[in-house]
Amino acid sequence: MSLELWDAVDRYTAGLLVGEDEVLEQALAASNEAGLPAIAVSPNQGKLLHLLARIHGASRILELGTLGGFSTIWMARALPPEGRLVTLELNPAYAAVAERSIELAGLSELVQIRIGPAGESLRALLQEGTERFDLVFIDADKQSTPEYFELVLELCRPGGLILVDNVVRDGAVVDPATADAGAQGMRRFLELAAAEPRVTATTIQTVGSKGYDGFVLALLEP
Ligand SMILES: C[S@@+](CC[C@H](N)C(=O)[O-])C[C@H]1O[C@@H](n2cnc3c(N)ncnc32)[C@H](O)[C@@H]1O
Repeated sequence: MSLELWDAVDRYTAGLLVGEDEVLEQALAASNEAGLPAIAVSPNQGKLLHLLARIHGASRILELGTLGGFSTIWMARALPPEGRLVTLELNPAYAAVAERSIELAGLSELVQIRIGPAGESLRALLQEGTERFDLVFIDADKQSTPEYFELVLELCRPGGLILVDNVVRDGAVVDPATADAGAQGMRRFLELAAAEPRVTATTIQTVGSKGYDGFVLALLEP
């Protein structure tokens, strides 16, 4: 078993079930041309986010970590016409690339990009008394995931869904002595989620074009 095989299977299945998409390919090309790192979710994972948002009937979505807007576009496409997606990005240059791609996708009316450290943006949303979110996708700097999770618990509606990406990190998550700050962050996040009575959650390990990783799917109890 190898990355080469996982990648081939990812391409084969995405070719059949996800298909070609000019807008999303343009978004990836724009990110690439602007020198953004190639760390967006894969097409199969983007479609999963889209499907989960639809299954959950989400009309308010919060995303931490916009990058070039690839996952943003996937999720915003699941929104009803009166829906809203707020996405948080630290890097203004990345946000500018995302903004253009979201506009080309015809989704600007539904999407708000907030620039700055996600922790600050989350606290600002809380202070503003923003309407609670139906679905939250946490995909920013991995070491801060525990802090984000605690803030997101206050921003998500009862019965809301919280998705946390890159939890497995090539298996580093099982090593208490790991030097990977992201994996340490995920260990603390998993311990918090385990101890949180308002949440019921599971972890799914994944392989594919993005290597070996996984995500947590957590439901805030109604
Ligand atoms: C893995 S990428 C997001 C990928 C994107 N969700 C996708 O799949 O298309 C992580 C993003 O989080 C951003 N980021 C890093 N630290 C951050 C912080 N403290 N606050 C907000 N965003 C941050 C990075 O600039 C990067 O764009």
